[in-house]
This record gives sequence, structure tokens and C-alpha cells, in this order.
Amino acid sequence: MPKGTRPRGPSILVIHGPNLNLLGQREPEVYGTRTLRQIDADLRAQARQNGAELRSLQSNSEGDLVSAIQRARGRHDAIVINAGAYTHTSFAIRDAIQAAGLPAVEVHLSNIHRREAWRATSVLADVCVGQIAGFGPLSYTLGVQAALAQVKPGAHS
Ligand code: DQA
Repeated sequence: MPKGTRPRGPSILVIHGPNLNLLGQREPEVYGTRTLRQIDADLRAQARQNGAELRSLQSNSEGDLVSAIQRARGRHDAIVINAGAYTHTSFAIRDAIQAAGLPAVEVHLSNIHRREAWRATSVLADVCVGQIAGFGPLSYTLGVQAALAQVKPGAHS
């Protein structure tokens, strides 16, 4: 095959919202002891093993998250998103996911349905393909697996 014509694998964008930079120190009884760095490294390895590439970013700012989702169109094939507390409030992130037109998988470390009542509502859920919650860092692993299942190699447009 001539150089440069090898079809590239799918590209997954993992987005972490507010306070997830504190993983490892933040309420470890709820969110576990793994740091975001460790989780991201595991996800990159998982993607590589599946012939895909994976980028990740974290922001505490709603606007930055919206901009990152806007930029994903044409660059990535699917999104895995843990929007943190913005999950429960952000119509701007919801609109951005809808506008991006990419398959998105919502993930949460904790089971948002067995905590405070306000956490059980996700304003993102119905613009995502599905939601994975309650498995700690494994939620991200399952989310990436679900995202990979949604995309074909090099399918981005
Ligand atoms: C979270 C759940 C949210 O309710 C919370 O605000 C977070 C983390 C989770 O991963 O379990 O920041 O998204």
C-alpha cells in the first residue's frame, strides 16, 4: 500500500467536565482513587489496542466544553463525555452535542440514579446514544468501548 494511503482508525474524543481534575483526591469513597491522568492513559491504551486514536481534555468551564464539542466535528468520530455537574444543568452542552452530530456516550463514575435526587436528571441523556454510570473508572472503559462500536474506521465527516 503506498505511503500515506493507509486508512486511519477511528478517533474518539473524551471530555471531562468540572472538578474531574481532582480525581484521586476528591471524595475517593464516591469517585475512587485513580487520577484523571491514570484514567486517560488507560483509555489511550485501550483505543490503541483497538486500532483507534483517543484524545482527551478536561475543563472546569462550561464555555470551553462547548467549544471543544464544536471543534470535534470533522476531527473525531465519537465523543465520550462526563460533564460532571453540568450534566444536570447545561442546555448549552446539550445543544453542542446535538449540533456536533457525532455519536456521544455519557459516562459517570458514580451511579447518579442512587444519589441525591437532583443528580438523577441528565439534560444530556437524550442527545447521547446511551449512558454508563456507577462503575468508577470502568464506566469510561465501557464508554470508549461503546463509542468504538458506534464508528467505522475513518468514518468521520
Ligand atoms: C459525576 C456525577 C456528577 O453528579 C458530579 O457532579 C460529578 C461527577 C460522576 O462522574 O459520577 O462531578 O459526573
